[in-house]
Amino acid sequence: MTGFNLSFVPPARMFGSTPIRGLALAVAAIAAPVSAQDKAEGPAATVTIRADEPGPQVHPDVFGQFMEHLGTGIYGGVWVGEDSPIPNDSGYRSDVLQALRDIKVPMVRWPGGCFADEYHWRDGIGAPENRPVKINTNWGGVNEDNSFGTHEFMGFAERLGARTYVSANIGSGTPAETSQWVEYMTAPADTTVLAKEREENGRREPWTVDYLGIGNELWGCGGNMRAEYAADVTNRFITFAKPGTGEMLKIASGPSDANYDWTEAMMKISGPHIDGLALHFYTRPRDEKWEDKGPALGFPESEWASTLDHTQQMDEYITRHSAIMDRYDPEKRVMLAVDEWGTWYDAAPGTNPGFLQQQNSLRDAMVAALNINIFTKHAERVKMAAIAQMVNVLQAMLLTDGPRMVKTPTYHVFDLYQPWQGADSLPVELDSPVYRMDDISIPAVSVSAVRGADGAFHVALVNVDPNAAHPVGLRLEGVDAARVTGRILTASQMDAHNTFDNPGTVAPEPFGGAKISGGAISVTLPPKSIVVLQLR
Ligand code: AHR
Repeated sequence: MTGFNLSFVPPARMFGSTPIRGLALAVAAIAAPVSAQDKAEGPAATVTIRADEPGPQVHPDVFGQFMEHLGTGIYGGVWVGEDSPIPNDSGYRSDVLQALRDIKVPMVRWPGGCFADEYHWRDGIGAPENRPVKINTNWGGVNEDNSFGTHEFMGFAERLGARTYVSANIGSGTPAETSQWVEYMTAPADTTVLAKEREENGRREPWTVDYLGIGNELWGCGGNMRAEYAADVTNRFITFAKPGTGEMLKIASGPSDANYDWTEAMMKISGPHIDGLALHFYTRPRDEKWEDKGPALGFPESEWASTLDHTQQMDEYITRHSAIMDRYDPEKRVMLAVDEWGTWYDAAPGTNPGFLQQQNSLRDAMVAALNINIFTKHAERVKMAAIAQMVNVLQAMLLTDGPRMVKTPTYHVFDLYQPWQGADSLPVELDSPVYRMDDISIPAVSVSAVRGADGAFHVALVNVDPNAAHPVGLRLEGVDAARVTGRILTASQMDAHNTFDNPGTVAPEPFGGAKISGGAISVTLPPKSIVVLQLR
């Protein structure tokens, strides 16, 4: 066998999906205006989608976003203040708000990250001029004036229509501090002293805290704890964090990468008390040393391949952490919340290394699509995720510079996958050819499929091979689909990216290269492309 038959490799390699029954007909071949890629055509992949066996829902919050007090992720990127010459809505950048609304950001995590375990919520309420200035010790040692606090975060989420994920300070805070913050945010109007203080600060009605993070990376920047100690601390804080209104799911600080011992201890000691366990995993081209991760642009093909190889470890990590969770929680009540994921490269030349600024290229788009396919496969356990981070930091959706803003290739992937939010995942079997580079061999094709809330079927196909187009023969079992339309994201260079001067270098285009005939769909994926098809 020359390819990856994903029916024969661990279940991790088989992606969740739904069948489309009795597919009959027609050819909906609308010519693809995508620029021809003069590359060889490689071997074909085959995909079977069981459209008549829908699996678990892809929770909308899998498309969540992370915003931390880090670099220009908030200040300058989201929040400019009411007096700014940059067009804004009550201090929030209008361009950023609109762009994020357009991709229906479902959930936002704040205020960190490492920042969270040094954050004291009282610093960020009341008149801005009275808020204390502190040093952001984690990120660049810059002044933090606390002008973006609880009210500003909640106002942002409300403007986006997004659910809220607030990370509490467990590492350097107290259970009383967390408990009072929760009370301040959620106590009904006209009840407690803290509810009255909230009203004095401009907000009468309580907010909903959809998720409360019980610290962040308690094994590292959140306090360098042992897993058993962290689990005890988690239980202690949870005991006193009681929302006055609304359901508030508690997310424990979980493992990073392959730290299975952490998951074991957390589930054993805290499993009954928590609603979710966080997983953090960052993709790096050179994963041996954090000091040398590789550049975001101008990389060789070997680093294209190593990045796309490394990122697919997400599948193994989720599979193995889930297997541990299954022993303590066979009903899958506790979610695995991948609340930090994405690429992490060397900081952009000339920038403050503590600001974690990096460009975002077609390679990042590939990483995003591969991970969303993996999350779809694991929809039963992965019910929430947050890419790191939303604006200007790491694998961002948007980059800003003063008044200018540009959408990254990753933004466009989140746009292409919008139908996945809240859709039913569908079982998929994939037999993929191999993309080889030096000593790396990975499946050239990745796929996920869903039945959308709109009743349509949506299939995402990723060809990571930068050198060859791959034909795909797709069968939709159990559904009659007569019409196929599509969109594609690709570019001529592996590190193609958008800049303030050239914002449209990597952007989705209509794709008409898929044909339906008698229940079978044929499509040729151009090299290094993401194709999302809609079938009705
Ligand atoms: O996202 C940047 C940092 O990465 C976060 O603050 C921390 O949780 C992680 O180590």
